[in-house]
Amino acid sequence: MSIEAKNETLNMIKESKIIFPNKDKVKNTNAGSIDAFNNLLKRSWDEPEKFWEDVANELSWFHPWSKTIEGEFPNFKFFTGGITNPAFNMLDRNIEKGYANKLALIWEGENYETKFYTYKMLLCEVNKFCNVLKGFGLKKGDRVSIYLPNLAETVIAVLACYRMGVLFNTVFSGFSANALRERLNHFEPQVFITADGIYRRGKVIALKEQADIAIEKVSSIKASIVVKRGGNPISMKSGRDYWWDDLMRKSEAEFQPELIEANEPGLVFYTSGTTGKPKGVVHSGNAFVINNYIYAKYHLDLHQDDVFWCMADIGWLTMHIWGIVGALSNGITTIFYEGAIDYPEQDRVYQILEKYRVNKWWTSPTATRMLMKFGEEKLKPYDLSSLDVVAFVGEPLNPEAWKWVYEKIGKGKIYLNNTYGQTETAGCPLAGAAWLTPMKPGSCGIQFLGAQLDIVDDFGNPVEPMTVGNLVFKKPIPMLIRDLWKDHERYLDTYFYKVPGTYFTYDAAVRDNDGHIWVLSRTDDVINVSGHRISTMEIESAVMEVEGVVESAVIGSPDEVKGMMPVVFVTVRDENNEEEIINKIKLKIVEKIGKIALPKDVFCVPTTPKTPSGKIMRRFLRELVIKGKIVSDTTSLENPDSIEIISKIISGI
Ligand code: PRX
Repeated sequence: MSIEAKNETLNMIKESKIIFPNKDKVKNTNAGSIDAFNNLLKRSWDEPEKFWEDVANELSWFHPWSKTIEGEFPNFKFFTGGITNPAFNMLDRNIEKGYANKLALIWEGENYETKFYTYKMLLCEVNKFCNVLKGFGLKKGDRVSIYLPNLAETVIAVLACYRMGVLFNTVFSGFSANALRERLNHFEPQVFITADGIYRRGKVIALKEQADIAIEKVSSIKASIVVKRGGNPISMKSGRDYWWDDLMRKSEAEFQPELIEANEPGLVFYTSGTTGKPKGVVHSGNAFVINNYIYAKYHLDLHQDDVFWCMADIGWLTMHIWGIVGALSNGITTIFYEGAIDYPEQDRVYQILEKYRVNKWWTSPTATRMLMKFGEEKLKPYDLSSLDVVAFVGEPLNPEAWKWVYEKIGKGKIYLNNTYGQTETAGCPLAGAAWLTPMKPGSCGIQFLGAQLDIVDDFGNPVEPMTVGNLVFKKPIPMLIRDLWKDHERYLDTYFYKVPGTYFTYDAAVRDNDGHIWVLSRTDDVINVSGHRISTMEIESAVMEVEGVVESAVIGSPDEVKGMMPVVFVTVRDENNEEEIINKIKLKIVEKIGKIALPKDVFCVPTTPKTPSGKIMRRFLRELVIKGKIVSDTTSLENPDSIEIISKIISGI
């Protein structure tokens, strides 16, 4: 990146203004005062053992631990020898606290069906499902894969696995048979859970058909449990396929939680690396709960009567972090919504927020941009005054989207928390504490409780504030990745050898002069133009400033002279204005970054390829531009139709 261009980015960050949250809210937060929270933060960094000890003591244990923190990267442990159970801390503990009849889970189907579970009811269902799994011979250390959307049964199955110490994952229900089979063959589950069919935009998708093709060649699977949801005709294979309801009807509602040591594996979550096969990220179940309990408590400022809606899909770790573990370990009410957020109408999100008086909400930057595109009119009829805290994670949040949520949805009265995390970090070590730390539109907040991160150059030397570098962890947190399933060498190589002594995130970040950290992009997505490093995010941010642009994705395309050149994809509000907008985009990029970042092409497209959680899959745009076709696995693509449309636009057809 040229000095001029770098200065431009840093100026943008430097000029970003701190927004102080409403002081009147502070006294009712969990910390009670800003000083108290700052002291807690300081203590969490200065005396991590004491801090994590206090956190863990807020939860229940069957047997105390002997050492709070043991070892260093990559061989670290927390709460060594301590015995507890993740599901016990999410269910039984709340019942013991008197929440037996409090709503734990609200489920809303895309077709407006609803189900409500109190903590007692949820525990009862979870115990029954534990006995079902036990009936198939499953015990601690065995494995289950769940191929379901956001159903109540999905939550029950996940909690049952936690209770039994059975290793599990949820595989995104939009994955094809091939993608599913690849993951199952790697994980080797004994039991598999799916549904007959699932609702998506009013249609029933034959999920079991996909599942059957996948599991046919997965020899580890002894039983496939089928939730009745779509009501579509299916074939059941005798001796392998069982209806969920039949098994549950006969099952006992008592099951003792398994005794699980704090470092034993619990979840094995598949995430796609930028290259190669999907990797199975191994997390300790107990550490996942302990760490996300305290993070959710302060990220969202959780209180007893909160109603939280996490809009993510259970196929992604985000829903586990916030919607299951963060919510239930804090004893609040969590909402699971099954379907598309714009079905049957573009105001479905607002309907749900109003109907359940949601006060804590997680949404994605992309979903926000979608809501922006639908327009303010859709929002106007709804009373969303219950909203208090809105959180984000997963991708850069452009200031325009930040401001829209803050001003239009929240009427300037809410706390916005853009958090940063990865599947590997399990939760969000960069974030704000709701109502306690100042906000900055677009920043990822501060290094959070117990998290010790740094921004370093390629040799591991810390960089000064306002300098772009690699985001690394200097010290572990309990829920940080413990291994890659069946690939310990890849675990060590990928995360711990880039900058020895640290965990390497592969994210480029800047710490500003107020101590806020800005995650700019993956370091593996940097474009090198004439030897100058330019963050694609930086160009995207500039593009997003052009009025009428709804979303943008920038990729690098090889150039004979310059090595690389950016190519810009945008969706725009008014398609009749395309030519004018393209010119404005070019001018804006030159204005914001310099001629060096001038794109080779700007394509206006009706939509961009996305993951089901709404992230733009720039990889496919890159392949279409560079190779003229898609060469990598498209199974994680939510809207495969977009490929042909974009391909035609690129070729000018
Ligand atoms: O590049 C960072 C980006 O998303 C990546 C992690 O994605 P995933 O493993 O799917 O995890 C999602 C959350 C559990 C990171 O390496 N990312 C995440 N949050 C932000 C972000 N980029 C910018 N701003 C964020 N707030």
